[in-house]
Amino acid sequence: MMKKIVIASMNNGKIKEYKAMLEPLGFEILSLHDFPDLPDVEETGKTFLENALLKVQAVQDRIIMPVIADDSGLVVDCLNGRPGVNSRRYSESEKDEDNNMKLMKAMSACQDRSARFVCQIVYKRPDQAAKAYSGTLEGKIATTPVIGNGFGYDPIFYVCELNKMMSELTIEEKNRISHRGKAMAKLMEDLSHDG
Ligand code: IMP
Repeated sequence: MMKKIVIASMNNGKIKEYKAMLEPLGFEILSLHDFPDLPDVEETGKTFLENALLKVQAVQDRIIMPVIADDSGLVVDCLNGRPGVNSRRYSESEKDEDNNMKLMKAMSACQDRSARFVCQIVYKRPDQAAKAYSGTLEGKIATTPVIGNGFGYDPIFYVCELNKMMSELTIEEKNRISHRGKAMAKLMEDLSHDG
């Protein structure tokens, strides 16, 4: 029987990336779209880890299944780490395009364009304690967006090690190097030993 894991997210971009990593390993991936009655989680944590733990707990309070939650975001040096844990909610509309525009505007006077994506994953089986996994990806914020693949800040994030924008990567290329892919590589190693 296929093992099921719930991704504690409504974000289709994230869900797609998790499916690409976990389905080839034989997992069936569900998401919050499959549980429309679950209440929204208030991301009141001050850190990515606190928010990921809140997301896992909110699901496991109601559903007895293994859960992966990730809290992730973009940390920009010249903005003292903003948007950080508020990455999704950075602009008023919370739309990706508006978040990107607001960020580029906020950085118009910044010489230092360095930034990193951060991903904090928490995995919890109903019968076990929560385990945390993290990953980061260093890069630079561009001055013009390149529309393409991915989601969120991908159109304005330049990946120095590949000399490409994040939005130019296929999902497999992105998962190999991304903050989420790095955190997941550690979790997938543990899942391969999971009974
Ligand atoms: P969360 O769903 O509360 O964890 O918010 C994550 C937000 O961080 C997303 O809505 C994006 O704005 C940003 N983000 C996280 N990971 C990525 C990524 O891989 N690419 C682009 N933006 C990302």
